[in-house]
Amino acid sequence: MQIDSNLGMHLVRATESAALSSGRWMGRGDKNACDQAAVDAMRFALQGVPMNGVVVIGEGEKDDAPMLYTGDRVGTGEGPELDIAVDPVEGTALVAEGRPGAISVVAGAERGALYQWQGIAYMNKIVVGEGAVDMIDINAPVAHNIRRVARALGKKVGDINVVVLDRPRHKDLIREIRETGARISMIMHGDVSAGVMTSVSHPAADILIGIGGAPEAVVKACALKCTGGAIQCKIWPRNDEERRLIVEQGMDIDKVYYTDDLVRSNNVFFAATGITSGGFLDGVEYLSGGARTHSVVMRSLSGTVRYIEAEHRWDKLMQISEIPYEVVEEFNGKGR
Ligand code: FBP
Repeated sequence: MQIDSNLGMHLVRATESAALSSGRWMGRGDKNACDQAAVDAMRFALQGVPMNGVVVIGEGEKDDAPMLYTGDRVGTGEGPELDIAVDPVEGTALVAEGRPGAISVVAGAERGALYQWQGIAYMNKIVVGEGAVDMIDINAPVAHNIRRVARALGKKVGDINVVVLDRPRHKDLIREIRETGARISMIMHGDVSAGVMTSVSHPAADILIGIGGAPEAVVKACALKCTGGAIQCKIWPRNDEERRLIVEQGMDIDKVYYTDDLVRSNNVFFAATGITSGGFLDGVEYLSGGARTHSVVMRSLSGTVRYIEAEHRWDKLMQISEIPYEVVEEFNGKGR
């Protein structure tokens, strides 16, 4: 069946739901509970989406998180056949530690469109927005990429904002970026948001560079198909076991994966909701009797990018949802 409507408008209910549930765990130091809350809520909301979906990108590889697993069927089972990529919480540690920038994400594309593999946790990536898509080359020195992106965007190198995950593995990369004179935004987590931020209108970042989660590369590519930005990435194996898996799956360690290799369709949907406030989306605001969420929905075919502010009422929601969004206060006698 053809996908003739914007399924992103349905998918965003799943990211809202995951954000409303996992946002309850902000700053409470429990990553697993946060992830589980998001997964339960997202799974429930996805059940109602009119599609025959299969999860092809989950997030279990890196940290055995309690996820919607690869191969899980999602949706009503009626309607178009879709590949689904989920990240119920991108930046679980951010939520658990009460830090900014966590989002919930779902992306979808027609069946067979999303690139899949087994057991590879990381990719080396470079991401830019529409104004610089032809300027990047992941095999070229960082300085070359930064200079070309700056020229394409009509900026000085010193104006450029490069986002990098703050990791010891990026020590040399950070030194090389500093040597160019470009500015750096160091992030603790969340390279999907950072990547997407290079390609929305009024981008808060110009380039994302470095090694991050492999599933996140495909999720980001879905958004970039909608906004016109670009990603290039290469597999980054951690050990011999992953090198063996690369060979076994007929993958090539030297291959550059482009946006169109990661997402082989122009019928792609992307939805995300902020959990904790960050540069991309505001987080969940819990109000008296409800909450407000901030989301984005994108569709590649039309190129539409919608920002949605939604108000949720517990009194009504609790009558139709199995998800316990509303907090039941239990006074434990401590903390007076
Ligand atoms: P989670 O979705 O598991 O919370 O991961 C967040 C994240 O920071 C991604 O944004 C990034 O791609 C990846 O983890 C980096 O992995 P690591 O923390 O192992 O360096």
